[in-house]
Amino acid sequence: MKHGACGLDFGTSNSTLGIMKDGKPSLVSLEDDQPTLPSAIFYNYDDEKTYFGRDALAEYIGGAEGRLMRSLKSVLGTTLMNETTQLKKRRIAFPDIIREFVAHLKKTAEAKAGTPLTHVVVGRPAHFVDDDPEADAQAQSQLEEIIRKTGFTDIEFQFEPIAAAFEYEMTAEPRNELALIVDIGGGTADFSIIRTGSGRANHPDRSDDILATYGVHVGGTDIDRILALDKIMPLLGYLTRLKGKQRLPVPSWIYSDLATWHRINLLYSHTLRTQVAQMILEAEKPDLLKRLANVLQHKKGHYLLGCAEAMKVALSDHETTTMDLDIGADGFPIEIARIDFATMLTPWLDAISSAMTKTLALGGVEAEDIHAVFLTGGTSLSLPVRQRVQQMFAGARMVTGDSLGSVGLGLTLAAARRFQ
Ligand SMILES: Nc1ncnc2c1ncn2[C@@H]1O[C@H](COP(=O)(O)OP(=O)(O)OP(=O)(O)O)[C@@H](O)[C@H]1O
Ligand SMILES: [Mg+2]
Repeated sequence: MKHGACGLDFGTSNSTLGIMKDGKPSLVSLEDDQPTLPSAIFYNYDDEKTYFGRDALAEYIGGAEGRLMRSLKSVLGTTLMNETTQLKKRRIAFPDIIREFVAHLKKTAEAKAGTPLTHVVVGRPAHFVDDDPEADAQAQSQLEEIIRKTGFTDIEFQFEPIAAAFEYEMTAEPRNELALIVDIGGGTADFSIIRTGSGRANHPDRSDDILATYGVHVGGTDIDRILALDKIMPLLGYLTRLKGKQRLPVPSWIYSDLATWHRINLLYSHTLRTQVAQMILEAEKPDLLKRLANVLQHKKGHYLLGCAEAMKVALSDHETTTMDLDIGADGFPIEIARIDFATMLTPWLDAISSAMTKTLALGGVEAEDIHAVFLTGGTSLSLPVRQRVQQMFAGARMVTGDSLGSVGLGLTLAAARRFQ
């Protein structure tokens, strides 16, 4: 592998960077000896410093005054990319925020690896944006331009589910079979079907072995939204009405944005605060809207959605989970049982199933033809997700990968192959 080559997984929720070490792909420790860096930035208004990853989350949770940004990858290919966001006295454009994050990743990895990084294979989902090829192509070129500005000279893209397939081949027994790769992350669910075995992994051109690559913009952050809209937002007045003849509903877009990681900051405006203050006077349930006003005033949006995410994660290991929400003067205990969670997720799971059906159709194979299913991505740890995949591929072996590392390791292998 060329000196200075690496694999970069810029994820919706977590990012990794890998280099080859003693002939094997290895993820560089990016923060506290951990190979993943949460894709989060915090701009602190007091010390005017920028924090990344776990540090960024800690600053926000600790109550520091400033702005937290998460799920930046979801902004690629959308109109938000052309907008700027207010940071105390200055405004910053979204491409610059992403560039600062990638530059931090690069600098940290270079310091750890002790070498400058110039060549990179970057992961990309099958679709950054669904059903809009133009916006999708734009998303990739936006990301490429951003990465080039951080100092990488040679940039290649690889589909994330194919990268995960390469990593699967490294760890799986070399059998002649068909494997379905299922990578469900924070923002997207990506799939590929790959023919493995007979020394195929070392062939320079794998296009004949890759039967299908497909994906949808459906991921763990959507589960957070579903959970938040079902369990948390009603406590803030979601689905309630204003008084008056028409009994107009309180605008639902406010709650939808509050439940969408990359849109939360858009709500922290003076205009909306004034609007909510007015609605409190007109609401059928003013106490609930007072809580909404409190959440906006104290910038608790990321905190609340973080509670939804934490409950989701807890349900991967427990039958029920409870949490005491800190909204306004009163604490609010909420409880979710896994069985209700699974029901809540049905439409989301159906979207995953139909994407898997489409992947099979693209590969020209039936579910029974798949010998092994390789599950990776943080969301594949969710029980209803695993159950749904298992149901669909009842005859296949389920293989679990390094949920947060497979794609990054596979991208590093791809970098070693491309930049020899
Ligand atoms: N134990 C768990 N149970 C359920 N979900 C989990 C668990 N652990 C992490 N997640 C979820 O997994 C998602 C992050 O997964 P991952 O790091 O694979 O995504 P990503 O690579 O950043 O996103 P993408 O590939 O879509 O850009 C988050 O939505 C997180 O809440
Ligand atoms: Mg991923």
